[in-house]
Amino acid sequence: MKGIILAGGSGSRLYPITKVYSKQLALIYDKPLIYFPLSMLMLGGIRDVLIISNKETIPLYEQLFQDGAHLGISIRYAVQDAPNGIAQSFLIGEEFIGSDPVTLILGDNIFYGSMEYFHDALKRPVGATIFGYHVTDPERYGIVEFNKQGQAISIEEKPEHPKSNYAVPGLYVYDNRVIEISKNLKPSPRGELEITDVNKEYLLQGQLHVQKIGRGVAWLDTGTPEALLQAANFFGVIEARQGLKVGCVEEIAYNMKFVDDAGFDRLIRSIPQSLYRSYLEKIERE
Ligand code: G1P
Repeated sequence: MKGIILAGGSGSRLYPITKVYSKQLALIYDKPLIYFPLSMLMLGGIRDVLIISNKETIPLYEQLFQDGAHLGISIRYAVQDAPNGIAQSFLIGEEFIGSDPVTLILGDNIFYGSMEYFHDALKRPVGATIFGYHVTDPERYGIVEFNKQGQAISIEEKPEHPKSNYAVPGLYVYDNRVIEISKNLKPSPRGELEITDVNKEYLLQGQLHVQKIGRGVAWLDTGTPEALLQAANFFGVIEARQGLKVGCVEEIAYNMKFVDDAGFDRLIRSIPQSLYRSYLEKIERE
């Protein structure tokens, strides 16, 4: 399974935070936002990752993660010249994906809690799996409608009159056909290759699994300054209570056994003296 993080976009709603770099580098409590989607892929056991962003921000991601070897994974980078839509990820990433299945996560999506829904999706060999999460503001998202038997019957992108409150989070698990399907897409009225159109095609072919995510899981929005603050507070509260970090990619690399004891020790020693390093030292001691 390959993993793509799409971390571009214009981020105009967050200006001036996004004047210099893309919003996935914005701060969520004690780490950049992009640590969360990267953590998600790593926790899914995905070790081959492509980060797609604009040409201004790619060098910053490269500084942040290099080639990923210190985390026991491989990270490559690709430029999306303009925000032409989420589905363009599969065209930009065609060579990277090769003949494998691929999970796409949007660089501004944060998931917290049990990951059973994701692990189940990763086990499914054919078709596509997307998720449904109950929200108060469905007009802002891709929305899935279910029939009485609980099967998905329609998906609409940011509908004016939503047919349900189930939004489709920015986490998508596809078989390799996603490349071919994306090649056949036409740009939407807003000029983008829509991920919702990819999902509609899988639905048409009877190959779309829509898995509801229960209320015990947090899927947090980061699209506005208020949402960024709420997310920061959310993780600040949890980390202070538990004394454990969320979205700490170094710790995850160790727990997932992507790096061994010696590798973890080297990794820690490469980090400057900081609260973050002290935390990792504590994990190592324990
Ligand atoms: C995108 C997708 C939408 C999805 C959302 C999740 O919206 O188009 O279907 O529900 O991500 O974050 P955008 O971020 O482009 O507004």
